[in-house]
Amino acid sequence: MSELLKTKLSVHYANKRSALHEVELAMAEGEILSLIGPSGSGKSTLGLALLGLIGLKGGRAEGEVWWRGRNLLTLPEREWRQVRGREMALVPQSPVASLNPALTLGGHFEDAWRAHAKGDWRIRAREALEAVSLPADDAFLKRYPGQLSVGQAQRLLVGLALLHRPALLIADEPTSALDSVTVAEVLGLLRRVNQEHGTAILFISHDLITVAALGGRVAILEAGRLVEQGETEQMFASPQHSATQRLLQAIEHYRLPPKASVHWER
Ligand SMILES: Nc1ncnc2c1ncn2[C@@H]1O[C@H](COP(=O)(O)OP(=O)(O)OP(=O)(O)O)[C@@H](O)[C@H]1O
Ligand SMILES: [Mg+2]
Repeated sequence: MSELLKTKLSVHYANKRSALHEVELAMAEGEILSLIGPSGSGKSTLGLALLGLIGLKGGRAEGEVWWRGRNLLTLPEREWRQVRGREMALVPQSPVASLNPALTLGGHFEDAWRAHAKGDWRIRAREALEAVSLPADDAFLKRYPGQLSVGQAQRLLVGLALLHRPALLIADEPTSALDSVTVAEVLGLLRRVNQEHGTAILFISHDLITVAALGGRVAILEAGRLVEQGETEQMFASPQHSATQRLLQAIEHYRLPPKASVHWER
């Protein structure tokens, strides 16, 4: 597999130096990489920095983000815009915050299309809707976000991100607001997009159970530093770093005790 992305990335905010400290990540074309770490460890900061959006949050990126042979951090904003949303796209966390309630679904696809291309957006919009198992017809495109279930809205966000057939989807906690059945549906969808279209996925999460279901490789972030990375299955079987062990121990709290040890006082 050829290399898609390679970073050595630091990010500083005005009141917080080293929100990320020399994070070295590499991704191959078509690969799934999960990025996990506790709240505040810098996961969203990394996602935004890869998309060149960290300046909007008052952050400053330093180092290197190699993308298909170019260091994105040296590009002027005009060239960045060609990459963002087209070659690399974000699946946001919340449909409610990301969709405009007054704009039809078709309007969303049209806007996303015109950001990078001319001509008829409908052909690709239908293709994207099919890819995420939503109805690919005019009646559906005339609907408004409020007329969708939460699961449909989250799938729509994936569809919008897929519109320009990006090589990489960055999904920042795309399942954290969903019930468990819908989580399974969105995970299945991401896996299928990865397999059928060869789209690489950077899956940001603090939920190890979700990450285990997705497979691929996993990288652990703690306090802005990458502390461990490897194959998901192997890391779950024998975590090396204390941060990974702590994350895994947290899951233990969800486990029920063995049946025999539960006694009801009557
Ligand atoms: N705009 C900002 N200005 C200053 N500091 C910030 C800003 N955004 C994030 N930070 C700080 O940078 C660190 C990393 O934040 P980030 O949002 O990337 O964490 P995260 O891993 O995504 O957490 P969560 O799981 O809660 O989403 C935190 O200490 C946070 O307080
Ligand atoms: Mg975050």
